[in-house]
This record gives sequence, structure tokens and C-alpha cells, in this order.
Amino acid sequence: MPKLGVNIDHIATIRQARLSIQPDPVAAAVIVELAGADGITVHLREDRRHIQDRDVFLLKETIKTRLNLEMAAVDEMVKIASKLKPESVCLVPEKRKELTTEGGLDVCVNKKHLRKVVSFLQKKGIMVSLFIDPDLKQIKAASEIKAQCVELHTGAYAEAKKEYTQKKELKRLQQAGDLVVKSGLRLNAGHGLDYKNVVPVAGMEGIEDLNIGHSIIARAVLVGLYQAVKEMKSLIGRNR
Ligand code: PXP
Repeated sequence: MPKLGVNIDHIATIRQARLSIQPDPVAAAVIVELAGADGITVHLREDRRHIQDRDVFLLKETIKTRLNLEMAAVDEMVKIASKLKPESVCLVPEKRKELTTEGGLDVCVNKKHLRKVVSFLQKKGIMVSLFIDPDLKQIKAASEIKAQCVELHTGAYAEAKKEYTQKKELKRLQQAGDLVVKSGLRLNAGHGLDYKNVVPVAGMEGIEDLNIGHSIIARAVLVGLYQAVKEMKSLIGRNR
């Protein structure tokens, strides 16, 4: 059964809407873990629109599972990650104007820079994952620069409006996933996964972690965070 990493950025989004002290992502992480999540994921953005530096350091100290830090491959973040030492870092592309991460990293084009960042973070004892589209060229490049893990971007699958498009995207994910596993890398996936579309992705061969944020926090507003995490956890264990 794949493991569930819950992305709690949106808890901080609500707090930052009023530049207040609540809700606290650290408190949310306690509930998320009590409900059975296997990890906590946060994206420390360069513009600090939601998660703040204080959050990542407190989370590292308080959580009982694993901290997965999503970040851009820039000097400022590399310095923070080296100090924080989360269990894993997921390198993502970042644009200031985007609402959420759009598309995966272009590893082929940024090979030299990414290789340097990956190796630097690995030497600090951090597992490095690359967030990429289900594209075979990108996976080969990820393997060449010796990343340990690939997180496949499930956005195209999740956003597909027609059933056949969704099936086609799922096939693309599985083919990409097969190459990730064959290359000896850990296979994770995330983005846009929700209570309706998660089961086939959770059933992918070789999948280890799913990182899910928006759908869980959106549901939590209505049914509570504990319940929302529990429901997702039970869905990803279905068919296993
Ligand atoms: N994985 C990565 C790398 C992401 O950037 C995000 C969004 O922050 C997620 C997973 C979670 O996506 P969602 O909030 O759509 O579930």
C-alpha cells in the first residue's frame, strides 16, 4: 500500500490570509499524523505566501513521521534545507505568478545545475526527489543526475475531463512509473489527486508515496481534518 504524505500548505494559506497565528500548520500536522498519514509535506516558496521558515523548523522538531520539503533549486532554499535536514527534499519548478506548481522540472535542460544541487543535498543526508512530468526523457535525465526519487506530476491525469483522456494519462503515468522503478529510483506521485481519482494512481505498480494537499484540506473544512485524512488513507489502501 502506498504511503500518504499530506501537504499542509493550505493550513498556512488560511493563516496568512489574515497574517495571523492561526491555524497553525504545526497543530494540523499533529492531527494529520494521528489520522494515520505517513508523512508531512510542505512547500517553502520563495515568496513565503503560505509556509514560513518558522513552520518548517518547528515541524522538523515536532512531527513523528517524515518531513518532505518541496522547494525550488535556488541558493536560499538549499541553505535552509541544509540547516533543516528534512528526511527528503522534492525539487520543484517555481514561478511567482502561479497558483500552484505548474508542470514538472525540466531536468534535461537544467541538468548541470540540478546535478549540483542534488549531490549537495544528498551529502547532507537528505533524500532528493525530482518533481517531473511523466516523460521518459525527463526520467532518464533524473537517473543520470543520480536523484534517488522521482515524483511524477499527476496533474494532467487529474485534470482530464473525459474518461478516455484520463485513461490515456493513467497509462502514461504507469509507463513513466515503470521506467522510474526500472532505473532503480523510488517512485512517488502527486498533484491534483482527490477522493474520486486517487484509487487508480494508488494502484500503480511500484508506487511508494502519494503527496496530496488541496483535496484533503478542502474536505477538512467540511468534515474535519482527522476524518479527511482517514478517508484518504483508506482509499489508497483499497485494491491492495
Ligand atoms: N506534490 C508536489 C511536488 C506539489 O508541488 C504539490 C502542490 O504543492 C503536491 C504534490 C500536492 O498537490 P495538491 O495540493 O494538488 O494535492
